Amino acid sequence: MTTLVVRGPAAVEGRTTVPGDKSISHRALMIAAMAQGRSHIHGLGPGDDVDATRRCLESYGIGFDDAGDGVVVHGTDIASWREPLRALDCANSGTTMRLLSGLAARCPFSSSLDGDASLRSRPMDRIVHPLRNLGARVDAVDGVFPPLTVGGGSLTGTRIAIDVPSAQVKSCVILAAVGASGRTTISMPVATRDHTEQMLCSLGAEVESRRRADGSVEIVVNPPFTPSPFSYEIPGDVSSAAFLVAAGLLCGHVEIVDVGLNATRVGFLDVCRRMGASLVWVVNDTSMGESNGRIDAERSTLRGVGVEGPVVPLMIDEVPLLAVLGTAAEGTTTVTGADELRVKESDRISAIVAALRRMGAEIDERPDGFEVRGPSELNGAVVSACGDHRIAMALAIAALRANGETRIEGFEAAAVSWPGFEEALSDLGADVELQ
Ligand code: S3P
Repeated sequence: MTTLVVRGPAAVEGRTTVPGDKSISHRALMIAAMAQGRSHIHGLGPGDDVDATRRCLESYGIGFDDAGDGVVVHGTDIASWREPLRALDCANSGTTMRLLSGLAARCPFSSSLDGDASLRSRPMDRIVHPLRNLGARVDAVDGVFPPLTVGGGSLTGTRIAIDVPSAQVKSCVILAAVGASGRTTISMPVATRDHTEQMLCSLGAEVESRRRADGSVEIVVNPPFTPSPFSYEIPGDVSSAAFLVAAGLLCGHVEIVDVGLNATRVGFLDVCRRMGASLVWVVNDTSMGESNGRIDAERSTLRGVGVEGPVVPLMIDEVPLLAVLGTAAEGTTTVTGADELRVKESDRISAIVAALRRMGAEIDERPDGFEVRGPSELNGAVVSACGDHRIAMALAIAALRANGETRIEGFEAAAVSWPGFEEALSDLGADVELQ
């Protein structure tokens, strides 16, 4: 087990980049794998989750060549994918398991998808039912948990109502539906990240998304679709950038360049601005439907905010980090409607509340969120990453504003999305050490 030692309070300053977007990386690999020929992908996310997707695709017979800072994917029509010899190991990655299940449902053989202890405890019934409605054969432990067995080969488009605010579920259904016969209409109560729709549309698929006045979303998928090979430079991950944004707001000044600024991912930046943050983000260009640009975050006096409703899915991975900002903000910061956090890589509500309390925060758990009263001084403590990359990194940011030494146990979890995160902090001037 690795411990990150952070000595605070820190002063940070600098201009930097962040690793390639994890969500977009999974999608780029999967869609390239079903394109007939060689696709070139640059700036792929370096974390263990994206590696898991690559390894699973290799099990289907897809070839990969590393080329400089990129990868060449030798894709082929799904009908020619090879039957895997053993269960696919999705490791810690819910995105791998859920999105790949949508493709596995199109294969004429059965695939078994498994993962680590955390993934085995996460709900999969949310994809089991829609895939069965499309005509796939899907089995899960108690109908809910991995390992999954997914097979089908011949899917028929239909109407699917998704009641969880999950881009993973939506993407699973879309990736299956583009290979079904006939149209699929998907309805969802709120908007979630739309990378799958953007990438598929950019590559010529008929996937049309409409936002209704009540905030709900309808997506119509008209197959068939077989992508042509493509080249793509993946933007930096705005969810990774969020940690450095918080570091800048709490402890100095950070500029992040070449970062993705998709409108369905910047909920955290919007909320920071509502808190009074001195924060600017500017879009420089757009590629494959994805906006890229830069973010500039400066030390700010923050005030508490309430976060609820449709903004939650647009910042779902940043909610634990908002708790950290809440400890520094004047007044109360509350989050409600974030019960999905309980079924992420860890129960992120319990994990962040327990750790911040140990550091001296005034924070209470709610069934679907938390309430933080600030500002409060934080003091160094021994805390646990709870096997969760986002908890590990959120605690490192809390530790930057704490007095004395914080020890974050199990920090190796950060490698799921950002191997080398501690070096990025150190380059900005923080006093951090891996032990
Ligand atoms: C992701 C969607 C989100 C997010 C996860 C990545 C994706 O999950 O938490 O880190 O790439 O689609 P849900 O859509 O299930 O909330």
